[in-house]
Amino acid sequence: MLSKSPELLNTIDDYIVGEKLGSGGYSDVYLCQHRVSEKEYAIKFIKKKINGRCKMHRIRQEVKVLDKINHRNIIKLYDYFEDDQHVYLVLEYITGRDLSKYYRKGPPKRSHAVGIIRQVVSALRYCHNNNIIHRDIKNGNILIDDNRRVKLTDFGLCAVKTSPTQTMSDDLGTLRYKPPEMIRRELYDEKVDIWSLGITTYVLLTGRFPFDGSDKESITKSIMSDTIDYAILSQRDISFIKSMLSREPHERLDINQIAKHEWFKCYCRKCHRRKLSSATAAAAEDPSKTSDKTGSTSHRSHRSGRSGRSGRSGKSNKSRSGRSNKSKSGKSRSRSARSRVDKSTRT
Ligand SMILES: Nc1ncnc2c1ncn2[C@@H]1O[C@H](COP(=O)(O)OP(=O)(O)O)[C@@H](O)[C@H]1O
Ligand SMILES: [Mg+2]
Repeated sequence: MLSKSPELLNTIDDYIVGEKLGSGGYSDVYLCQHRVSEKEYAIKFIKKKINGRCKMHRIRQEVKVLDKINHRNIIKLYDYFEDDQHVYLVLEYITGRDLSKYYRKGPPKRSHAVGIIRQVVSALRYCHNNNIIHRDIKNGNILIDDNRRVKLTDFGLCAVKTSPTQTMSDDLGTLRYKPPEMIRRELYDEKVDIWSLGITTYVLLTGRFPFDGSDKESITKSIMSDTIDYAILSQRDISFIKSMLSREPHERLDINQIAKHEWFKCYCRKCHRRKLSSATAAAAEDPSKTSDKTGSTSHRSHRSGRSGRSGRSGKSNKSRSGRSNKSKSGKSRSRSARSRVDKSTRT
């Protein structure tokens, strides 16, 4: 019996099931409200059988890994239980959407894209350093809230290595994000996630896939032989994407090297410079704001740069994207989500 707390006998009837938030190959995800606590969650209804084939080994792996993980950029699993048809994962509810829907109207500003990818890299670094390979990194599995806080989700295809040098051979994942070594049926390791991260970054920056086609065959051919169209990207973007999209896995950077890539630093330096110049301009406008004040601003911007936050200063940015915002808009968001639960109640 798959249950986080078997003694409590939790079931889906403990929740009011609301609107569908999304679906994938194996599951549907609904916004749900716990009947007693009135707290909202995203519950993933995973079908135990697909086309008559039992998927329990994959589901167990997803539950086992998510239950152990503790990282601010990875979705939190609160509870899980099962009935005859489904396993239910009670997940933290992300008010925004997944990246594929969030930026449907067009790519984000470069500074936003860098902030998003930095958080995905942080999540993936945690996974790889703990011997977890995600194996389905893609825009649809990256959730983003209204403050552009990122949560990596969907560990349904993940693998846990029993030793750092272990390789694997299963052919799975999403075709357009699939690395050449998997298509070539070679043994592979966590570098498969780096390739998919490269595809994810390209899609985020350009709004299209680097390798594409009208059917499975032409997409596969494109992945194996097409040259990437970098026309609309800057030299910095190209260098970053190339470091991930090398067809030979050993030529790809690993996640720790990716985290230190110039692409992130350029952005930080740029915003640091911007903050310094705005502080200098403010001081010029108001002489009472002397060098002392400018010094403290520059100190804050340094911290802000290092921690990967965008915005004018660490402090003001925190209040924009952090607690104070939550107390204002978080409440109204939660209210509107509740009414969505009420309106579209299924059970
Ligand atoms: N915690 C969540 N909060 C909000 N939406 C979610 C959440 N989890 C999943 N979704 C939505 O549901 C979709 C499918 O979830 P996912 O876990 O990727 O399922 P699958 O394993 O079937 O692909 C996601 O792409 C996303 O749009
Ligand atoms: Mg998915």
